[in-house]
Amino acid sequence: MVETTERPAPAEASGALSLGRRDWSTWPKYEAAVYGFRDYWYPVTWSKHVGRKPIQVTLCGEKIMLIRERGKVYALHDRCPHRGVPLSHPMGSQEFPGTWTCCYHGWTFDLETGRLVAAITDGPESPICGKVAVRTYPVERYVLPREERTVATAYGPVRVKLVTLPDGARRAAPEYEDCRRVARERGVPVAEVYAAAQRAALDHPAG
Ligand code: FES
Repeated sequence: MVETTERPAPAEASGALSLGRRDWSTWPKYEAAVYGFRDYWYPVTWSKHVGRKPIQVTLCGEKIMLIRERGKVYALHDRCPHRGVPLSHPMGSQEFPGTWTCCYHGWTFDLETGRLVAAITDGPESPICGKVAVRTYPVERYVLPREERTVATAYGPVRVKLVTLPDGARRAAPEYEDCRRVARERGVPVAEVYAAAQRAALDHPAG
């Protein structure tokens, strides 16, 4: 989307601005980025938070519904074009594969294109089908670099998952079942084994 703002004539031409100007109150206010820049990529949530029940996120001032079907995540403008009800309303439902149905009057939208494919309360011959759509947004999943390895602790070996964050920091998540087994064998708290495995993984990142 391109937005334009009317600008006053250049200062030199109008004579309104001089080098010694102190009063900027008539200068146009820059508001384009108040809600963020459009058509940029933004991280909106963790992938694991998106499932078959829709969730709502707000991006650039817009409410967006996220939903996952067969492993793929879809993003639709979270407002039914019929009467403005949020599509992510908890009473919404999936009546047909690849679609989502508004809870109010059953308008049903294709998840991929946002096109209205059925108006359930009107019946299968509804003339509105194909003439209305909700906006859709591209979605990408960014996977952090990760590795899995076994680290040696004072209590015994434990498998650990390591991820590298965009800023280069690393996080270690020891396997809980390993920690529990080792803790039982050694008679120590699980938390102690867990912390030892984390330290071992982060202190020796090269494995
Ligand atoms: S408000 Fe969504 S179908 Fe009527």
